[in-house]
Amino acid sequence: MIYQNLITEVKEHLLYITINREKSLNALNRSVLSELATVIDFAKHADEVRGVIITGAGEKAFVAGADIKEFADYDGKKGEELARDGQQKVFNAIENSPKPFIAAINGFALGGGLELAMACHIRIASENAKLGLPEVTLGLIPGYGGTQRLTQLVGKGRAIEMITTANMITAVQAEKFGLVNYVVAQTDLIGKAEEILNFVKQRAPLAVAAAIRAVIASVNEVDGYKVEVESFGKCFETSDFKEGVVAFLEKRKPQFVGK
Ligand code: CAA
Repeated sequence: MIYQNLITEVKEHLLYITINREKSLNALNRSVLSELATVIDFAKHADEVRGVIITGAGEKAFVAGADIKEFADYDGKKGEELARDGQQKVFNAIENSPKPFIAAINGFALGGGLELAMACHIRIASENAKLGLPEVTLGLIPGYGGTQRLTQLVGKGRAIEMITTANMITAVQAEKFGLVNYVVAQTDLIGKAEEILNFVKQRAPLAVAAAIRAVIASVNEVDGYKVEVESFGKCFETSDFKEGVVAFLEKRKPQFVGK
């Protein structure tokens, strides 16, 4: 299948997905999300695929978040739909995939980009990677599972600090926090992911699928995602959100008023 925003290849039982919008730092617009949903579904059903590596084009960004340029005309209802649809078709679909997904984080993993990496089963970061959830700088909160998965991975204290300060952390800090499994040189990133999946490829596929299912069941008991979707939608009703997006597009500091 030919994609507009993704480069994909199946080689030796591994599916390689590169999000290919380098000029926009691989931001997730509607079209990327829709193509990701299609390729994730393909991975699930294709017997020849035993593992997936997902990365971003270029050396600067994995994914710099949801495409802020698409937010301009959003209201609460559309915001909620965006989060619900994205969570279901992309982020939860990755997490629930019977084949392991590895995020090869080759640069900025921000907002929806970090959420995409966190939906994957394993994360490897290059030394230059910066990770963060900057949504509150736009008057929003994470909407693609970030409040839930970051808390699961790094604990409540660190999650609240990262989300409310909106500050980025380095790859080394992320490894200390348990947010990434390994930090490697950018040139070794895909090789490290292949090394892990080459072990998985030798194991029993149904047992691998069952193991992933069981591990994921342990962290998804309460529906915090529903709370997140509704809260995300409500953010779009605030004037601070409009100010946050306009300020980003005008390349200036936002003036928030708390409304
Ligand atoms: N959406 C749309 N475009 C984006 C983008 C995004 N998330 N991130 C970067 N870009 C675009 C920039 O607008 C710029 O485009 P132009 O050349 O047309 O102006 C291009 O990518 C390069 O970016 P910068 O010039 O800003 O590069 P920089 O090196 O100065 O800064 C950066 C890099 C720190 C990552 C900065 O681009 C940035 O802060 N990006 C936004 C990050 C962000 O806020 N992400 C969260 C989005 S909201 C979200 O994800 C919601 C959710 O949970 C569902």
